[in-house]
Formats: sequence, structure tokens, C-alpha cells
Amino acid sequence: MTSLAGRRLLIVGGGSGIGREIATRAGAEGADVVIAGRHPEKIDLPARTRAIGLDLADENSIAAASSAIGPVDAIIALAADHANGPVASLDANRVRRALDAKVVGPILLAKHFAPSMPDDGVIVLFSGVASSRPGPDLVVMATGNRAAEGLADALAVELAPIRVVAISPGIIDSGAWDAMGDERRNEFFSSTAAANPARRVGSPEDIAAVVLMALTNPFLTGTTIHVDGGGRLA
Ligand SMILES: NC(=O)c1ccc[n+]([C@@H]2O[C@H](COP(=O)([O-])OP(=O)(O)OC[C@H]3O[C@@H](n4cnc5c(N)ncnc54)[C@H](OP(=O)(O)O)[C@@H]3O)[C@@H](O)[C@H]2O)c1
Repeated sequence: MTSLAGRRLLIVGGGSGIGREIATRAGAEGADVVIAGRHPEKIDLPARTRAIGLDLADENSIAAASSAIGPVDAIIALAADHANGPVASLDANRVRRALDAKVVGPILLAKHFAPSMPDDGVIVLFSGVASSRPGPDLVVMATGNRAAEGLADALAVELAPIRVVAISPGIIDSGAWDAMGDERRNEFFSSTAAANPARRVGSPEDIAAVVLMALTNPFLTGTTIHVDGGGRLA
């Protein structure tokens, strides 16, 4: 696709943060946007969007959503369900849920939605800077993100000519860090900005702009785009 007008987009994890910004922009460009998440009733819907329930850890819910929505032109899968902490403390079910959100669920999205996508369809997956810069307590995040990059490459080959791209954000002020509290979050953002070459943290707008480019550039597939302010080099 080279334009979003009139195209149907499924945004999994689009009820908050970066996904909500993508939904807002895509709706403004004339796309028919369906936002999917585990709590559709709680989503504050941007204009020209609607919500549907879908849990990436539950294949039946993915199959049901596919039947309910019908064919889509693009899927943006940016759910995250974190399981951070020292390896010795990790709970197996939380680890599985985190990998469901990043890897297994996106594979099942491809299974249930790709067969009815058009040849110019697009799938956008989400990695993150922890893939290139794993730190203590981030084993699951780093693994899930790296797997999402590999999955984008593999799907791009198998589903061709449907295009598949992974986006790898750096630290983004998306709301996901708000639970730290203002003081700790602001300190974290300041130290992140001081260390990365862009000298700032990112915004949801920074990432949404690249996602819209990835959706509409017909020669882009089988790759990961790092939108991280150079954070993986810091
Ligand atoms: N923010 C950052 O600094 C940063 C950095 C690097 C990478 N990223 C990546 O960028 C993406 C978006 O980040 P964000 O900060 O915008 O995230 P966010 O606000 O935390 O959003 C995550 C979304 O995932 C959904 N979700 C979680 N588990 C799900 C499941 N099993 N099934 C369906 N939906 C599920 C949540 O919706 P429900 O709870 O309603 O289901 C939520 O809307 C993520 O993949 C994240 O890893 C972000």
C-alpha cells in the first residue's frame, strides 16, 4: 500500500502509548482502524477507530477477532506484557505471557489474518532497544525483542509479497514509564537523554511517523528499523 486512505488496519496494543498515536494518525489519514487489546471497553478511542477484544495469549480470541473483523490490509502488533527482574526471580507464567505478547501472539496473528491479506498488505512488529542493549533484569524483554526482529525477517520471506517490518524504539515517553513516579521517571529520562546521541528521549509521535512510513513504502520489508536516538550505541 502507498496510502492509508480506505485501508483497514488492525492495531494490537493500540489502546495506549505509541499504539494510540499510530491509531490517531492513521484514522486522520482516512484508514479504517480497529484497535485490539484485552480491555477494549477501557480504550479512549481516537476519531475513526473502533475497538475489539483480543488477547495475544489466547489463540481462540485471535481466531474470533479474525472472523469478526474480516480481511485487513495491515497489522501493527505492538503489545508488551513485561516480565522484568533478575532471572532467579522470574515466574514462568509471566515469562510466557511476555513472550506471547511479543512473539507467539504475532505468529498467531499471521496464521489467522495473513491468508486473507492482499498482496500489498503489511505487518509491523515491535522490538525495542533492549534487543541490542540487554541490561540486568531485562532478559525476557531482550529475548522477546530480538525474537520479534527474527520473526519479521522470517515472515517477510514466507508471506511475500506481504511486507513485514520490525520497529525498534528506544526509550519513549509513552506513558509506559509513569508507574515509576514522576521523580524516578524524570531522572531516568534525563540520564537516558544524556547518554544517547540524540540527547533526548523519544515521543510516541517519533515512532508513529516511522510506522506510517513503513506501512506505505512498498520497497521496505524483512528488516528492523531502529528509532532509538542512537540508544543502542550509547
Ligand atoms: N515505551 C518505551 O520506552 C519502549 C521502548 C522500547 C520498545 N517499546 C515497545 O513499543 C511497543 C509499544 O510501547 P508502549 O510504551 O506504547 O506500550 P504500552 O503503552 O505499555 O502498551 C502496551 C499495550 O499492549 C497491550 N497488551 C499487553 N498484553 C497484551 C495481550 N496479551 N494481548 C493484547 N494486547 C496486549 C496493552 O493493552 P491491554 O492491557 O488493554 O491488553 C497495551 O495497550 C511495545 O512493544 C514496547 O515493548 C517501547
